[in-house]
Amino acid sequence: MTPRTPLTAPTAPELDLGGRTALVTGAASGIGRACALRLAAAGAKVRAVDRDAAGLEALAGEAAGIEPYVLDLTDLDAAEAAAAGTDVLVNNAGIQLVRPIEEFPPEVFHTVLTVMLEAPFRLLRGALPHMYGQGWGRVVNVSSVHGLRASAYKSAYVAAKHGLEGLSKTAALEGAAHGVTSNCVNPGYVRTPLVEQQVADQAAAHGIPEERVLAEVMLQDSAIKRLIEPSEVAEAVAYLCTPQASFMTGTSLVLDGGWSAH
Ligand SMILES: NC(=O)c1ccc[n+]([C@@H]2O[C@H](COP(=O)([O-])OP(=O)(O)OC[C@H]3O[C@@H](n4cnc5c(N)ncnc54)[C@H](O)[C@@H]3O)[C@@H](O)[C@H]2O)c1
Repeated sequence: MTPRTPLTAPTAPELDLGGRTALVTGAASGIGRACALRLAAAGAKVRAVDRDAAGLEALAGEAAGIEPYVLDLTDLDAAEAAAAGTDVLVNNAGIQLVRPIEEFPPEVFHTVLTVMLEAPFRLLRGALPHMYGQGWGRVVNVSSVHGLRASAYKSAYVAAKHGLEGLSKTAALEGAAHGVTSNCVNPGYVRTPLVEQQVADQAAAHGIPEERVLAEVMLQDSAIKRLIEPSEVAEAVAYLCTPQASFMTGTSLVLDGGWSAH
C-alpha cells in the first residue's frame, strides 16, 4: 500500500495588504470603521469614504495609513472617480428606514437604492479597470441577512440588499478571468448606531415597547441570542481578501447566528 501523503497542518489565514489601497465606504462608523481599522492593520493604505467628516477625522487619528475622503455617495460621478486605483473595494455604507410600504416616502426609497446599490455599481466601475490591469482585486459587499431574507417594513433596504447580491455575483463572473473576486458578507444584527437608531421605529411599527424590540423583533429568528460585533464582521471581510479565500467568489458569507438556517 502506498503511504498516504500527510495532510499539512492547517495554517491561520494571514492577510498582508502592504502596498495595496483599500477603499471602504461608510468608514466613519460601525462596520465600515471596523473594516478600515482591520485593513489598515493588515498594511493597506485605506481610503476611508464617508459623508461624516468629523467621524473620518476621528478614525484617521486611530491608526496609521487611513486617509479620510469626505464624500456623499449620492454624488454618483464623484463616487466613481473616488474608486480609481483601488485594489480592495469594500461597499459598506448603508441607511435604514422602517416603515410600512404604503407609508414609505418614495424619495427615501430612491435615496436608499442610490446609496446602497447604485453607488456600489459606480464604485465598481471606477475600481475595476485598475484591478483588471494588474490581474488582482478584491470586492467585498457588506450585504445583510436581509440580502437573503425579507423582513416587514424594510422594503427599500431589503430591495437594495437583494440587488447588491445580484451585482456582487455578476462582478464575480466578469472579474474571474482578471483575478478579481467579488463576495458578500451577510451579518444579522450588528451592534452599531444603525441598529441602535431603529429601536424606536421598530417599536412603533410593531406596536410594542422599545425594551421588547431586541428580543422579540431583532433576535427572534437568530439562534444565537446576541448582537454580532463590528470587529467580527471586519474579520470576515479581511478573510475574503486572504490568499486562502482566492477560490471564493460570487458567494455570500453568512454571519447571522443561524437566522437563515430556518
Ligand atoms: N448594523 C447592522 O445590524 C447591520 C446588519 C447587516 C448589515 N448591515 C450593513 O452594514 C453596513 C454598515 O452599517 P452600520 O451598521 O455600520 O451603519 P452605521 O450607521 O454605523 O454606519 C453607516 C455609515 O455610512 C455612512 N453613510 C450613510 N449614507 C452615506 C452617504 N450617502 N454617503 C456617504 N456615507 C454615507 C454614514 O455616515 C455612516 O458613517 C450597511 O450597509 C448595513 O446595511 C448592518
